Amino acid sequence: MKTVTMVAPVNIAVIKYWGKRDEELILPINDSISGTLSTDFMCAKTTIQASPQFKENKFWLNGKEQNFDSPRLDSCLKEVKRRASPSCPILNWKIAICSENNFPTAAGLASSAAGYACLVAALAKLYKIEGDISSIARRGSGSACRSIYGGWVQWIKGDRPTGEDSIAIQLAPVAHWPEMRVLILVVNDERKKYSSTSGMKKSVETSDLLKYRASECVPKRVEAMKEAIFRKDFESFAKITMEDSNQFHAICLDTFPPCVYMNDTSHSISDVVHTYNECKSSNRVAYTFDAGPNACIYLLESETEEFLSVINYVFPPSSNTGYLKGLQVRQKPINKELEMMFQEKKHRPGALKYIIHTKIGDGPRMVEDSLLNDAGLPK
Ligand code: DP6
Repeated sequence: MKTVTMVAPVNIAVIKYWGKRDEELILPINDSISGTLSTDFMCAKTTIQASPQFKENKFWLNGKEQNFDSPRLDSCLKEVKRRASPSCPILNWKIAICSENNFPTAAGLASSAAGYACLVAALAKLYKIEGDISSIARRGSGSACRSIYGGWVQWIKGDRPTGEDSIAIQLAPVAHWPEMRVLILVVNDERKKYSSTSGMKKSVETSDLLKYRASECVPKRVEAMKEAIFRKDFESFAKITMEDSNQFHAICLDTFPPCVYMNDTSHSISDVVHTYNECKSSNRVAYTFDAGPNACIYLLESETEEFLSVINYVFPPSSNTGYLKGLQVRQKPINKELEMMFQEKKHRPGALKYIIHTKIGDGPRMVEDSLLNDAGLPK
């Protein structure tokens, strides 16, 4: 019997991936760039066990048994086995997979990126795959390829129809910009939205703006974003991040029928960020929104106490316990000057469910505590 357990991070794009040129291989129409988040507060954890005793393959996700015949799982597994050495002794053993997220999936936070990165990293360890595995994780979920590396990561779209050049590369490690912090503002919203997969398919089919973004805007923006990250130029980083998020959501509205991911609270958060930046006469804080209403805020450590004082003022918690999860900071009241700017923008308590405060972190790593017992069943 052989067992591997890994944890893998979530990543948040600052230049978004939206649109495939090949649905099956998951090949994108444009490059994207993201920051990988620390696994301390948000991660997927996966145990894979291979045994000659197992009669069939099994898969549990967040405590529930899943159908093993998923095309994306199958695609990852096939590619891993194709890359394994034919003499690998466990290649024909059946496997048990058990995976869970340490953050609530009900919050609508993207979990597929961390999940598939973790699955592929664990499979690669199990079958001793050498070299880049981001192109395998990509087959599970496009954005998962960026979670294979820590720090700042670019997914190069590639040109070949076979997809072997559609890979993620690390632009800079965590230590390059250690002051960077991330706030996930979890918006209280239960409505079901379209998945990224079906949303981007519809965008490719119907949005002219998507074609323009991919050919004209993203190539320039990718270069400018790389430069901003290399120089640790937060002002430019913030501007490009917000512009790209806004253009991505403009494409969602240009899709027919439209994909509406941001809600009124999301738009209020964007307004708070712009007002805050105006007060400071520079871009101190940047928002970005994925395919849902939650906001992801990038900011430097020096800004966190003050910006959180504004968020706590504009979006008061419905109860004070557990509102700020993750890294803790000194809670200070909003200052008079900022209070004047924001008093008209106050929301009812509970518009935000909670906040996760985290930072940039490393890629997948092996851990000891297995999620499966020796019989291959969840503990
Ligand atoms: C809005 O990677 O979830 O988060 O490849 O179909 O699984 P599939 O889509 P997915 O899309 C993520 C889209 C995004 C932007 C991004 O992360 O770049």
